[in-house]
Amino acid sequence: MPFHVPDPEAIRQAAAHLRDGGLVAFPTETVYGLGADARNPAALARIFATKGRPSDHPLIVHLHDAAQLRDWARAVPAAVWPLVEAFWPGPLTLVLDRHADVPTAVTGGQSRVALRVPAHPFARALLAAFGGGIAAPSANRFGRISPTSAMHVREELGEDFGLILDGGCCPVGIESTIIGFESRKPVLLRPGGISRLQIEAVLGRPVASPSLGAIRVSGSLPSHYAPRTRLELWPLRPLAARAVSLSASGLRCAAVVRGDVPRPRQAAPTLDWISMPDAPAAFARELYATLRRLDAAGHDRLLMQTVPGDVGWQAVRDRLQRAAVPAAEEIEEEWRARQESNLRPTA
Ligand code: TXA
Ligand code: MG
Repeated sequence: MPFHVPDPEAIRQAAAHLRDGGLVAFPTETVYGLGADARNPAALARIFATKGRPSDHPLIVHLHDAAQLRDWARAVPAAVWPLVEAFWPGPLTLVLDRHADVPTAVTGGQSRVALRVPAHPFARALLAAFGGGIAAPSANRFGRISPTSAMHVREELGEDFGLILDGGCCPVGIESTIIGFESRKPVLLRPGGISRLQIEAVLGRPVASPSLGAIRVSGSLPSHYAPRTRLELWPLRPLAARAVSLSASGLRCAAVVRGDVPRPRQAAPTLDWISMPDAPAAFARELYATLRRLDAAGHDRLLMQTVPGDVGWQAVRDRLQRAAVPAAEEIEEEWRARQESNLRPTA
C-alpha cells in the first residue's frame, strides 16, 4: 500500500506545536497516535485529558532511531539488540528499565518505560523534525477501537481537535507487539504487528507469556478495543445459523466471515453479510475500520467468525476476544432466556 508523502511545512508546524506543549495526532504503520513531547509533563497531562484515560496508564515513547535508547532506558538486556536490529523501525515496542530523567507521567509511575521506533514516513518525518521522544497512545478515547485513518481520529477526538497529520490508512492496522523482560528474559506483553514466531526466529528461543500480574498493560484489560454494538464470536456453522435466526426475529445483524463464504439462503434481507480476507495480515489491516463501520451502521448485533487458533492469528484473535462479549456470558444469557420462556405460563 503506497504511503502518502508528508508535506515538509505541515511537519515543521506539527513539530513546533509539539515543542509548544501541544498535541499532534499522527499516523504510524500500526494505528494513529496522539502525540506530545514526552519530556513535558503539562503536555502529557493533555494526552490523558483528551483520551479520558486514567493517568496511571503508561504511554509508549516514540523515537527516531535506536541510538536514542540510551537517553530513555538503562541496563538494556542483551536480547534487545537483535530485536532492534531486526524490527526497528517497525511495529515492535520494548519495555525497559527507565532512565532516571524519564517523567513519571510517561510511565504511570512504573520503573519501566515503553519505547518504539515507528516505520511510517509521517511519524519518521515528525520525529526527525521534533528531535526528541514523542509520547503517543493510540488516538482513540479510552477503551475504544484504535483509529487507522485520519477520519477515524476526527470521529474519536472531535472536529475541534487541532492538529491531525493525514497519512492515509495504516498498513498494519493493529497495535505494535510489546515485549518486556523478566529476569532479562523476553516476555510477550501484547501480541501485535510482529508475530511471536518472527520474534522467536530472531532470538532463537521461545518467548514466554508474562507471569500473572507482573506488568500492567491497559491493552490487556478484557474490555479494551470494544465496539458499542454487542459483538459475538462464533465458528462458521453456528454463526450462519444464528445470523439466520436473529435476522428472522427482526434484529438488524451484520455477520462477518473469512473468505468467500456464500450468504445463507434463508437469511432475512436485512442481514448484512460481509467477507474479510482469510489471511492474518490482510485481516488485521481491515479489522478496526470494519468494526467501526459496522458500529456506525446501527446494527443490533455483530456476529463474527472466530479465527484460527494458530500463532499467525494470535494478535487478531486477542483483539477480537477483547472486543467481543465473553462466550460464557452469551451462553448464560441464552440459558436464562430459555428458563424464562419455560416459566412463562402457556396460554
Ligand atoms: O502501535 C502502537 O503501539 C500504538 C502506536 C500509536 O504507536 N500505540 C499504542 O499505545 O497502542 P497505547 O497507549 O494505546 O497502548 C500502549 C500499551 C498500553 O497497553 C500500555 O499499558 C503499555 O503499552 N505500556 C506502556 N508503557 C508501559 C510500561 N512501562 N510497562 C508496561 N506496559 C506499558
Ligand atoms: Mg490504545
